Amino acid sequence: MTCTIRIACIISLLHTRVAGVDLTQYVNVFQGTTSGGNRFPGVVAAPFAMVKLGPDVQSGTTDAYSGYLANGSVWGFSMMHESGTGGAPKYGVVSQMPYVGSLANPLIDISQPRTAPDIGTVGYYKSSLANGVSVELAASEHAGLYQYAFPSSDVGTIVVDASHVLPSFRGLGWDQHYKGGNFSMAEDGSYEGSGTYDNGWNLSPDWTIYFCGRFSSTPTSSKSFSGNGATLTSYDTSTPVSGTQRVGGVFTFSPSNVTSRVGISYISTAKACQNLEGEIPAGTDFQSLVSQAKDRWNTEVFSKIQIETANAAGQQLLYSSMLGMFMIPSNLTGENPGWSSPEPYYSDAFTLWDTHRCHTPLFQIIEPVAYEEFIRSLIDIWRHDGYMPDARSSNFNGRTQGGSNADNVLADAYVKGVRGAVNWDDGFAAMQTDAEKTPANNNDPQAPDSSTKEGRGALPDWLTYGYITPTYTRAVSRAVEYASNDFGLYQVASGLGKTAEAATYLERSRNWRNHWNPAAASNNHSGFVVPRLANGSFVPQDPLSCGGCYWRDAYYEDVPWVYSMNMPHDVAELKTRIGGDDKFVDRIDKLFDLNIFSAGNEPGFTSPYLYNFVRGKQYKSVERSRAIGNLYNSGTGGLPGNSDAGAMESNIVWQMIGLWPLTGQTTFLILSPWFSHMTIDLGTGRTLDMSSTGGNKDTAFYIQSLKVNGQQWTQSYVTWGDVFANGGTMEYVLGPTPVDWATGDMPPSPASGDE
Ligand SMILES: *[C@@H]1O[C@H](CO)[C@@H](O)[C@H](O)[C@H]1NC(C)=O
Ligand SMILES: *[C@@H]1O[C@H](CO)[C@@H](O)[C@H](O)[C@H]1NC(C)=O
Ligand SMILES: *[C@@H]1O[C@H](CO)[C@@H](O)[C@H](O)[C@H]1NC(C)=O
Ligand SMILES: *[C@@H]1O[C@H](CO)[C@@H](O)[C@H](O)[C@H]1NC(C)=O
Ligand SMILES: *[C@@H]1O[C@H](CO)[C@@H](O)[C@H](O)[C@H]1NC(C)=O
Ligand SMILES: *[C@@H]1O[C@H](CO)[C@@H](O)[C@H](O)[C@H]1NC(C)=O
Repeated sequence: MTCTIRIACIISLLHTRVAGVDLTQYVNVFQGTTSGGNRFPGVVAAPFAMVKLGPDVQSGTTDAYSGYLANGSVWGFSMMHESGTGGAPKYGVVSQMPYVGSLANPLIDISQPRTAPDIGTVGYYKSSLANGVSVELAASEHAGLYQYAFPSSDVGTIVVDASHVLPSFRGLGWDQHYKGGNFSMAEDGSYEGSGTYDNGWNLSPDWTIYFCGRFSSTPTSSKSFSGNGATLTSYDTSTPVSGTQRVGGVFTFSPSNVTSRVGISYISTAKACQNLEGEIPAGTDFQSLVSQAKDRWNTEVFSKIQIETANAAGQQLLYSSMLGMFMIPSNLTGENPGWSSPEPYYSDAFTLWDTHRCHTPLFQIIEPVAYEEFIRSLIDIWRHDGYMPDARSSNFNGRTQGGSNADNVLADAYVKGVRGAVNWDDGFAAMQTDAEKTPANNNDPQAPDSSTKEGRGALPDWLTYGYITPTYTRAVSRAVEYASNDFGLYQVASGLGKTAEAATYLERSRNWRNHWNPAAASNNHSGFVVPRLANGSFVPQDPLSCGGCYWRDAYYEDVPWVYSMNMPHDVAELKTRIGGDDKFVDRIDKLFDLNIFSAGNEPGFTSPYLYNFVRGKQYKSVERSRAIGNLYNSGTGGLPGNSDAGAMESNIVWQMIGLWPLTGQTTFLILSPWFSHMTIDLGTGRTLDMSSTGGNKDTAFYIQSLKVNGQQWTQSYVTWGDVFANGGTMEYVLGPTPVDWATGDMPPSPASGDE
């Protein structure tokens, strides 16, 4: 290790190297919760926990994607949320809301502003409401604990409303609806029930969640209710209520503090109660749940990356970002209402379109056990639902923005040796379903031409022409993705010894070239992927424009300049088409000079590091990496875009590691490490140990020389086999000026060359 500031290093060593150190102290759970980050700040008791317990806030017509907003009134604390998504809010169900005094009508708006900003740490959350009630939250994987402190001035009331679900005000047809519920209670205030909801961004049909609630003391009064809107139909009995009306219960306590335990399940109220009693039995100490959550995040996530640094901001950014990476998907093994199977089950992928570039490759490294389960689950979803998801929530596939990116994820897992209990024959069959079987049109009003649910809606054109005509929406961006999906099939087919299939899919992975119009010109560059008609003609296209850039347009969420760099399996060919090394470098430069690049948009994630494919230019990738890194911090506005299910957070962690993965290949492009020393625990006793001398993160970050596993290194990349498969070491010498150190072979371009 290198220590320039001795005391800081010693302190840092104490913090990071001593067994049992609480790394959660460096985590800001509010990272990325404002400025469009949409991160969930509430309680997630363990990585991938089903319960995500936090406040639901209303503020005019602002969509609260994760339930939380910094400003506005809390209208409930609910148990299920998605973290970091765009599109439209999903979940925000199984809620309680406290009220001071007796409540004449539980259907009215009883939302409350907060008297102070919410407080949260890993496993703990607190809101202080204007009515004097404070609410503290803790949780387990399938249950939550609400601790209420009521003012002593009046009776305390808790409202349980099965109709509570997050709204969307965007008017895009993605708003969730409450469809009906059941509610029953016992004399001691125990309650059970269910709520049914539909829609959301994935256009889900009806789905049901069951709940089971208990209080620490017997209410002085318990009443069930039903009604429509703010109009009560019944509110004077404790008899069960059910139906399509709003249903729920109101529990009143003489002045006292009350805790409530609530379990949830997709299976039944009995299972919800079983989850509750198994995980948070009566008398569970609130603080012990908080400690358990901290222990699990420390052991399973944070301790996997140890750093020595005097850079406190960097340390906070690292661990806050690692938290954001592992809130979703949700491990719903044992909670699958769709089918029973010995395979694990994960839902809340939101979406692989976002995560397949750099999140899933880091998911494998940090959480290898869960990752293998996740891969098995993708395949099992194909077994029972017909297709792997690109996104999935409320146990329903949807929606698909571009290609079938589960293909890339499976390919990445395959080439990096994920085997275990994965049935790879089925895995390849699942990928072939994407590649060969057109999914039924789900008649999405946003894009009525073909399926947005799953698979590859524009497959007929892809198979007929080798490109996608404007018959289909998002034709060009889908084609670019289908090519990289097919490269994934090539990788797995090769590994399984399926030679004929491998040849077919390698050829198809080159089909992005069919959209390449050499005459399309912009800013001294020619050659861009553009729309193409059935008769072979290219459609005139401004490479700086994607029109509306949305569901009905030729390019989804990014411009031709960006999609024209998005074939990481075929970079050598791309370079030739762009006009050779100098033009290629200038083209990457222009992504920045012309303000085309957006650090928050996934299709551009890899472009800044493609300099590594040009001799002597690796240093420019490092400069881009540092500039992108500087857009992040651990604060509430610290993510330069939607978290996107942790995609953004995984991006910054790779910048800190100083590597960039090329999904579906074993290649990692070398950037430059942030910290003087980082150790990544790869499981089963393997580690990747990275150290640097002579430099620092901000002013002396250029690689002067590098040793990998003790050997002098002259390639601008390492492979999975070099440093991850069995662990390894990377020892950098850094300095303030670039040096032409990467004189060895270029990173591979496996689809380039012979056609
Ligand atoms: C919330 O309100 C405070 C005080 O009015 C303001 O300073 C802050 O910018 C607001 N935050 C957001 C995320 O709108
Ligand atoms: C209420 O529960 C019953 C039994 O589980 C179920 O058949 C019914 O569909 C539920 N009603 C609603 C509105 O959820
Ligand atoms: C409720 O909790 C608050 C905060 O912990 C405490 O100050 C108060 O004494 C408690 N009240 C009762 C009635 O137990
Ligand atoms: C996923 O959940 C199942 C059921 O609770 C559990 O057995 C399994 O260990 C979990 N997976 C991980 C990686 O924690
Ligand atoms: C295009 O090339 C011309 C001639 O070399 C140069 O003057 C101009 O600045 C270039 N424009 C851009 C956007 O690079
Ligand atoms: C293809 O069709 C378009 C639109 O009908 C037409 O403008 C173009 O000339 C045709 N190209 C060829 C090569 O026939």
